[in-house]
Amino acid sequence: MQMIQAVRGMNDILPEEGLYWQFLEQQLIQLAKNYGYQEIRFPIVEATSLFKRSIGEATDIVEKEMYTFEDKGGDSLTLRPEGTAGCVRAAIEHGLLHNQQQRWYYLGPMFRHERPQKGRYRQFHQFGLEIFGTAGAVQEAELLLMMLRLWKNLGLDHVISLELNSLGTSEVRARYRERLVEYFKQHQEQLDTDSLRRLTTNPLRILDSKNPQMQALIKNAPVLLDDLDEVSKKHFDDLCQILDDCDVKYKINPRLVRGLDYYSHTVFEWVTEQLGAQNAVCSGGRYDGLVELLGGKITPAFGLALGMERVIRLLQETKTLSAAPDVFFIAVGEAAQRRSLSLAEELRTLIPSLSLTLNCDGGSFKSQFKRADKSGAEIALILADDELANNKITIKFLREERPQQSLSFDEIVAMLRQQRKKE
Ligand code: HAM
Repeated sequence: MQMIQAVRGMNDILPEEGLYWQFLEQQLIQLAKNYGYQEIRFPIVEATSLFKRSIGEATDIVEKEMYTFEDKGGDSLTLRPEGTAGCVRAAIEHGLLHNQQQRWYYLGPMFRHERPQKGRYRQFHQFGLEIFGTAGAVQEAELLLMMLRLWKNLGLDHVISLELNSLGTSEVRARYRERLVEYFKQHQEQLDTDSLRRLTTNPLRILDSKNPQMQALIKNAPVLLDDLDEVSKKHFDDLCQILDDCDVKYKINPRLVRGLDYYSHTVFEWVTEQLGAQNAVCSGGRYDGLVELLGGKITPAFGLALGMERVIRLLQETKTLSAAPDVFFIAVGEAAQRRSLSLAEELRTLIPSLSLTLNCDGGSFKSQFKRADKSGAEIALILADDELANNKITIKFLREERPQQSLSFDEIVAMLRQQRKKE
């Protein structure tokens, strides 16, 4: 029979990798709480129109990458390709934006039908942060400082750097768009098929092209930062000044335009050279127009999303996490086996932080001992006929040069507690 396999671009997270996911999730949630963010959970499936309207009809995501289907009632639904749209929809729907500030985080799978490659998947996971109700550069700087703290906490600050740009207001972008179209039209023969199409739909995205043959053309294209109006320029200068004052290193990248249409003013990406072409580990920006576009009152908003698979890949290169239990319990013989079950339960009650693997399916001492060693445990507890007769348990240190000892249950408890304190 033919084997059924996972869908292309959608990955299983196996137990060993799960350790890194749990570690990252704990770090992210703790950080979010430290900065006063609350969790929001919203559906994986939303009305297709939500993404079309917010991300933009002429973006790659909406044009080519959405998992869209008609449900049994005939409604067009889409698996969320990102979290910002759902977040804003929920905020408006529940009336959480009137005269209120909100700081939210979310975490979960997103879906984009992209060509899978290293660091780019069709089901991937984002950790997102969204802030509603503050318009200033201080809020932007705080969010960037928060991420810098995260990279430091994860030991990744030396491989991740910040790139910034300002897209100005929608009027600025409309003017810039005209200049850009004029420029690219003058060099139309150098544009590839994708860029020719974008010339009429989304010319700013031509700047994002990875085609090596177009890089010289892109390099000489007009720069949006030169077109900024006074207000946008002051906003961006303020942010740069605050970051300088806080000693945050960044590079201004005038070609950074982002692949979603809802941005204005500040946009940014944290990038790394360790992941090949998929170099953005976390990106976001200001999207002051989106709440109104989705039917709410004008509300300033700013946020980001971090690609969890990408950060985990970086973590795996720098950090070793182990799922080894503290203790592996060996019991030889049927009576010992049964007794070991109740002793293990008592140990778990008395030392709640202990992780203990009980060998439940017998076997010779030798085969159980092999399992104990393979489990990576520091300590093996051994219960066989001798121990059973004398009311003792043997404790053996698997990773230290220390003599094994035969001890009473209470002495074992004391020793394990001692051992946990040392860690
Ligand atoms: P985005 O740049 O489309 O922005 O995605 C954010 C991050 O998700 C990227 O920097 C990347 O790390 C990760 N990512 C995106 N696509 C994939 C993929 N196919 N495979 C693996 N990782 C991927 C947004 O989604 C915006 N909603 C961010 C935002 C929040 N802006 C404001 N608030």
